[in-house]
Amino acid sequence: MGRKKHEDGDGDAREGSEISPRENLNESGYLNALRPTCFDEYVGQTEIISNLKVSVAAAKKGGWVLDHFLFAGPPGLGKTTLAHVIANEMNAKVHITSGPAIDHKGVLASMLTDLQEGDVLFIDEIHRLSPVIEEVIYSAMEDFRFDFFIGEGPHAKAINMALPRFTLLGATTRMGSLSSPMLDRFGFHWQLRYYDEDELTIIVERSAGILNLRIDLAGAKEIARRSRGTPRIANRLLRRVRDFAEVEGDGNINREIADSALERLMVDQCGLDRLDRNYLNVIIERFDGGPVGVEAIAASLSEERGTLEEVVEPFLLQAGFITRSPRGRIATAQAYEHLGIPLNQAALQTKLY
Ligand SMILES: Nc1ncnc2c1ncn2[C@@H]1O[C@H](COP(=O)(O)OP(=O)(O)OP(=O)(O)O)[C@@H](O)[C@H]1O
Ligand SMILES: [Mg+2]
Repeated sequence: MGRKKHEDGDGDAREGSEISPRENLNESGYLNALRPTCFDEYVGQTEIISNLKVSVAAAKKGGWVLDHFLFAGPPGLGKTTLAHVIANEMNAKVHITSGPAIDHKGVLASMLTDLQEGDVLFIDEIHRLSPVIEEVIYSAMEDFRFDFFIGEGPHAKAINMALPRFTLLGATTRMGSLSSPMLDRFGFHWQLRYYDEDELTIIVERSAGILNLRIDLAGAKEIARRSRGTPRIANRLLRRVRDFAEVEGDGNINREIADSALERLMVDQCGLDRLDRNYLNVIIERFDGGPVGVEAIAASLSEERGTLEEVVEPFLLQAGFITRSPRGRIATAQAYEHLGIPLNQAALQTKLY
């Protein structure tokens, strides 16, 4: 099995902080209210959405059950939202669970036997399913059968049961940790990407509308630009900026209020937060700009390797602050410039080529 062993990336030092892309439990109510419920409310990811619209329309027209789909991408980009949107568009009942929640076969058995024809089963963090559970899920996904053994040794009893046809939607922040038999059983893997400034501006304006906040275009753009390409962060920063606007201004959100609030939240002009900057600093100051392996960076930062790989690096790579080479991560000229550290161009060139 091509399963790679990683520690799980759950120990984010920013957990509970304003700018972690991961969800804080105390804000789920707030974020749920902002969650799009249909394709037309879902901003961005246009290619994925147009493909999914076709799949959903075809399934509805043909009266068949939608394929199993996998959604991959960093936290806060809208995987869970998309699963709900699909279930809603299919008029299907959605059952929600997660890899760590299915900790033995009995839990899986009760989930699967609860399904009705056409229902959607959403498994979040699907990369965290145990191999034993995965085996059972394979036949459920492929043949809509539930085959497993109760007990062990000579007294083991085989249970074979036909299941109604259902759709499994999986979400993962770590596509690389999924075994290949698991990957093969999905009709398609959708890789969500970071949102651009225009898309995030629309999201901020939409959320402000739902929350009855007054915000001008420049204010929305400022929040969008500094949200690390992530709708969850955009929505969270909007709320924090609103607080500043209430306390220090007349409640209206404009560019100045947004800028001064974000400055105080230590979100910089490029949307990088403290951990992003510390990460770049470590590569540049301690490892001479790289190349350096992620383990060494994690040790220097006292941070989980998983957090760096799932949360920090994808954005820094995308935004052009680091590159990857077979020997490790390298800070780019843009990273030096951003941190105001002088760069020896010639030395960087020899590292890159
Ligand atoms: N395309 C979008 N348009 C508008 N808002 C969005 C979109 N995607 C996400 N959001 C907002 O961002 C929030 C976070 O999205 P969601 O919970 O779906 O992320 P996720 O990818 O499942 O993250 P995680 O990996 O942490 O589970 C949602 O509450 C929603 O309000
Ligand atoms: Mg989610």
